[in-house]
Amino acid sequence: MRKPMIAGNWKMFKTSQEANNLVNTIKAGVHSIDYCDIVICPPFTQLSSVISLLDGTPIGLGGQNMHFEKEGAFTGEVSPVMLKDLGCRYVILGHSERRAHFKETDSIINKKVQSALSYSLVPIVCVGETLEERESGRAQDTVRQQFEGTFQGIDVKQFEKIVIAYEPVWAIGTGKTATPEQAQEMHHFIRSLVEQKTNQEIASKIRILYGGSVKPENIGELISKEDVDGGLVGGACLKAQSFIQIIQGTVEDNAKV
Ligand code: 13P
Repeated sequence: MRKPMIAGNWKMFKTSQEANNLVNTIKAGVHSIDYCDIVICPPFTQLSSVISLLDGTPIGLGGQNMHFEKEGAFTGEVSPVMLKDLGCRYVILGHSERRAHFKETDSIINKKVQSALSYSLVPIVCVGETLEERESGRAQDTVRQQFEGTFQGIDVKQFEKIVIAYEPVWAIGTGKTATPEQAQEMHHFIRSLVEQKTNQEIASKIRILYGGSVKPENIGELISKEDVDGGLVGGACLKAQSFIQIIQGTVEDNAKV
């Protein structure tokens, strides 16, 4: 049984006051929701104030990135211990924007995944192909390569703690969502990779989120697909009403086996 998850990736948006307003409105809208795991991932600068607002709510807190070392001379970086210290339970790793703009490779992301697991943070690990890779028929090869590099050496027992997010780069911030069929096909493929690496039981438990122009209008169709277990939401999580509606849109999907 896989409980749906909706995670909001705020990216580099929201000042303190804006963050407080957004969280307070989300809180009011989701206080009685237990059919979906809800996660918000504000910028580092807002984690401390946001966690103080989340007490007593079903909303979990996540970072958008981290360094793999516990501490050290890494100017500008934030460690897993620091995220834990602020109350984070999750961390997004390997987002395509980190890969593209900050040159993160699969092997760096792999170190981060290992580190997050060792500090009991749930990594939300992103994979996904570019438009060019899809159009040239290499979407699955790309995702397989990212999967193998990113999850190299991860202990089978640790694997079920991981959340995977399939985010086709061409669908991020473009308004072009993958069709539910395209999402299902890739999610099924990713689940088969998990099964090859671990076993059937873990593959059936692990959650695979879809990300890329998720909106209130398309979450229902996406999540009705067998292997789509929720969403990693960018633009639409910056407004409380659309984020709440996306969470509510998972309700039909509450008993996926
Ligand atoms: P959008 O929902 O804005 O397309 O962003 C998706 C994303 O990158 C979430 O991590």
